[in-house]
Amino acid sequence: MMKALIDRLRKETVLSKEEYVLLLSHITPELSEYLFQQARTVREQWYGKDVYIRGLIEFTNCCKNDCYYCGIRCSNHQAQRYRLSEEEILSCCESGYALGFRTFVLQGGEDPFFTCQRMTSLIRRIRQQFPDCALTLSVGEKSREEYQAYFDAGADRYLLRHETANDSHYRKLHPETMSPENRKRCLRDLKEIGFQTGCGFMVGSPGQTVENLAEDLLFVKKLQPHMVGIGPFIAQHDTPFRDQPNGTLEITLFLLGLLRLTLPSVLLPSTTALGTIHSRGRELGILAGANVVMPNLSPSSVRKKYLLYDNKICTGDEAAECRSCLERRMEAIGYHVVVSRGDYPTIKTK
Ligand code: 5AD
Ligand code: FES
Repeated sequence: MMKALIDRLRKETVLSKEEYVLLLSHITPELSEYLFQQARTVREQWYGKDVYIRGLIEFTNCCKNDCYYCGIRCSNHQAQRYRLSEEEILSCCESGYALGFRTFVLQGGEDPFFTCQRMTSLIRRIRQQFPDCALTLSVGEKSREEYQAYFDAGADRYLLRHETANDSHYRKLHPETMSPENRKRCLRDLKEIGFQTGCGFMVGSPGQTVENLAEDLLFVKKLQPHMVGIGPFIAQHDTPFRDQPNGTLEITLFLLGLLRLTLPSVLLPSTTALGTIHSRGRELGILAGANVVMPNLSPSSVRKKYLLYDNKICTGDEAAECRSCLERRMEAIGYHVVVSRGDYPTIKTK
């Protein structure tokens, strides 16, 4: 009985690989609704109806990597490359602050222009100008020394999706220059240095099996990250995976529910990719157990250039529009966007 497995997951916060596979192969609307109810209860024990917002600043789409799924891979000569200046980034933070954001996420490709020195000087300036805000970085694989320098300069959090926990699947998604070992080394280093660390994976990426997804759940259980970012794979028309099918809403939501029960207090975003495959995708993600949304703070002029996948939403809107749109969407389902750093909880409040 699948519901009994969900009950046990809620109680024990982990299942075996075979049991996760069983659940993932028996998804029905009824089972999903049962899972989401449990996930919402656990989410509300930790976070109530609060939804944390993160202001995402996509500050460079230049990247030296060539991931087969990604629209800003270096081999995509159709991509119009851009970099924001330090001043432009600070002005995004200023308008974000006025809109109530207390976390800024600097996300970019692995851009060699942003050397350790340029990154740390940027981090110090943001830290100095916004002392009450959290600063999250998402700029890929670096040496431990470089991560330490970012941390010492004042960055608090780091997002680096592992993409898939299965090594042979990882190699099917990336060229030989990238290794699953280095990816995992980065995540270990980030945690040891003291970052609030986020990993994550794409759902429905080419070649992925339900066994792989079960391995992802066991990987996150073992890593114990503070955040887990997941979203459906969405084909981008100028990549080698252009003809591959997209990940589904149904499986992505189910995984959000399983993640909430597996890591009860985790920070779990309802992602832009989820909002892209369904007009109410982000609301449905919150109702499946997610508690974070990450609207775009990038200047409108560059938004249409940070296209990791096709049909990305919010590429034309102003930051203020996304902020109020999300607030309305969350209120409509009984949740509330809050003005706060939204840190990982250290003690249970309820
Ligand atoms: N579809 C969905 N997600 C993607 N990402 C990159 N390319 C795609 C795509 N085609 C995700 C990766 C990466 C994050 C920034 O965006 O998981 O870590
Ligand atoms: Fe961007 Fe709705 S969140 S317009």
